[in-house]
Amino acid sequence: MTKQILMCRPTYFDVKYEINPWMHCDNRVEPKRAKAQWQALYDIYTLKLGWQAHLIEPQPGLPDLVFTANGGLVIGGQVALPRFRHPERQGETPVFKPRFLNNGFKTLPIQAHDCEGEGEGDAVLWNDVPFAGYPWRSDRLSHQAVARALGVNAVSLQLTDDRFYHLDTALTLVNRSTVALYASTPTRESVDKVRRVVPNVVLASEDDALAYRLNALIDGEHIVLSDRATGLADMYRRMGLQVWPTPIDEFQKSGGGVKCLSLELRH
Ligand code: ARG
Repeated sequence: MTKQILMCRPTYFDVKYEINPWMHCDNRVEPKRAKAQWQALYDIYTLKLGWQAHLIEPQPGLPDLVFTANGGLVIGGQVALPRFRHPERQGETPVFKPRFLNNGFKTLPIQAHDCEGEGEGDAVLWNDVPFAGYPWRSDRLSHQAVARALGVNAVSLQLTDDRFYHLDTALTLVNRSTVALYASTPTRESVDKVRRVVPNVVLASEDDALAYRLNALIDGEHIVLSDRATGLADMYRRMGLQVWPTPIDEFQKSGGGVKCLSLELRH
C-alpha cells in the first residue's frame, strides 16, 4: 500500500524559543535553505518513491508545526493526539485535531488521561508495537493510556540524555526484524527490553545520533535519511535497502530531522 505522509511546509519555521538543547535563538534558520531542504524531502517522497504526501496548513506563531511527527500517533485510522509538554507547542494540537477529524480519523485525546505525549516523536511503531520514550517529552502513563486506547501494548523506554529528547532521534525501525539504536541514551533495562522484542538490534554511534542519522523513514525497500549518515547508509545498502540521503541540517537547528518532518498516516 502507498505510504501516506502528513507534512507541513516550513513557511513559518524558525528557532524562536529554546525547548531542547539543540535550539539556540541566535543560531538563526536560513529560510531559503530550510525551504529547499524541505522541498527536496517532499520530492523524494512524492516524485521518487511515489508516496502520497498530505499537507497541513502552516500557521504563524507555530514555528515547530513543521514537525508533523509530533501531531499524533496514528494506528488503523485512530489517532492519539499530542499533549505537548512545552506551552510554546501547545497551540499545535487544535490545528492537528480538525485535520484528522475531517479526514475520517477517530481521535483518542490523551488529554483525557492528563499526561503528556508528543505523537510519533516518542512513540515509534515497530510491527504495531509502540516503543515509547520518556521522560523528556512524554509521561510514562501516557504510553499505557495510548496503548490501551489503541488496543496495543507499549514498550516504555527510559531515555537519559536530553539531547535525544524524543525517541525517534535515537531509534530507527529498519525492517520487521531490525532496529538501529543509539544505545547510550536508554537505560540498560530499556535496551534489554528492546533486545527482548527485536531479534536484530544494530548499534549506532554517538556521532550517528548527533548528526540525526537515526531520524529516518523507511518503507521496507527504501530509507530516507540525512545525507550525513554515510556509515549507516552503507550498512543499509548492504542490507539491500535503497538509500535516499538528503540534507536536513537547517531543521537540526531546531532538533529535528527527516522523520520529525513526516507523520505516517496509517488508515
Ligand atoms: N523543536 C521541536 C521540539 O523541540 C523539534 C521536534 C522534533 N520532532 C521529533 N519528532 N523528534 O519539540
